[in-house]
Amino acid sequence: MSFLPTFIQTLAIDQADVAAELQSGLLSPVARLSPKFFYDPLGSQLFTAITQLAEYYPTRTEARIFARHGMDIAQHAPAQAVLIDLGAGCCTKAARLFPTLRPRAYVAVDISADFLRDTLQGLARQHPALPMCGLGMDFSNDLVWPASAQDWLQSLGAQNQPRIVFYPGSSIGNFQPDQALALLRQAHALCRQGADGGGLLIGVDLVKPESVLQAAYDDALGVTAAFNRNILLHTNALLGSDFNPRLWDHVACFNGLHSRIEMHLQSRIRQQVRWPGGRRHFEAGERIHTENSYKWTLTGFADLLRLAGFDPLVHWTDEADWFGVFWARA
Ligand SMILES: C[S@@+](CC[C@H](N)C(=O)[O-])C[C@H]1O[C@@H](n2cnc3c(N)ncnc32)[C@H](O)[C@@H]1O
Repeated sequence: MSFLPTFIQTLAIDQADVAAELQSGLLSPVARLSPKFFYDPLGSQLFTAITQLAEYYPTRTEARIFARHGMDIAQHAPAQAVLIDLGAGCCTKAARLFPTLRPRAYVAVDISADFLRDTLQGLARQHPALPMCGLGMDFSNDLVWPASAQDWLQSLGAQNQPRIVFYPGSSIGNFQPDQALALLRQAHALCRQGADGGGLLIGVDLVKPESVLQAAYDDALGVTAAFNRNILLHTNALLGSDFNPRLWDHVACFNGLHSRIEMHLQSRIRQQVRWPGGRRHFEAGERIHTENSYKWTLTGFADLLRLAGFDPLVHWTDEADWFGVFWARA
């Protein structure tokens, strides 16, 4: 039997609340834009390019862990589960795990809805026997499982299968620890809605020498800089603002106090940015904070998973302990 991918979208990108969120961030004393706004179709492609860079160790390191320990992971994670890929991007990581995890159905969730739709169409051609559903949604405030997704599982007879929530790439690092805990609790609840045995398979970036981090977030080719500046073009499209990306420098720095890499955009000149109903003055050198990427210790992250309700936990790392993959049973 072959399946066509289903697509469900709970995002309405022109919603007033998106504009309100952008405006409120831009008008904060230290201007900020959420990293979720990196991802329009170009942002998703730029991120895929970042994962190919020599300096960007997380993707390669995590892939090595999955390649080396895949069979062991499959001993813990149930077969025939509903595999829910949070922030699926180009879906490559989940697709590599299909042969070992042997899921009953695949649900790819991403805010970059158009990119996800295109990706799933290609993926469904390669895996015609695996039912796939794309969910275009923003889970940063609430990981709500839409009723239509439940109906889709029901139509497959898969509503009572165990659920594996897959959250690779250390995207959890974009959240402050309290927000990360809230999201993990919601992931726990989502797993518990399926049969026993489900859980979370998550990749997390670990504390390491600052020079390695600095290079990974400020590469020689300037791809990360382009990715960072693209948030301004995406903001222009969503808010109607008049950012000129040429007037902003990419800045990446390690904040040791919070154990996180921060990305900022720094204004090259004194300037005004306008949008319908608002504007902001920026001095030369003033910054917009665009991303945090927290670096965890294995014990710190295990404590967070337990606080979110997951137990027992198993983890795998690379030789240098640069990256960790956890299986956390719900
Ligand atoms: C760092 S990329 C990781 C992509 C892929 N999972 C990987 O590990 O290579 C983050 C992904 O999460 C998606 N994303 C970011 N914020 C999101 C949000 N609030 N809701 C849904 N998806 C989000 C982005 O569109 C992007 O595809």
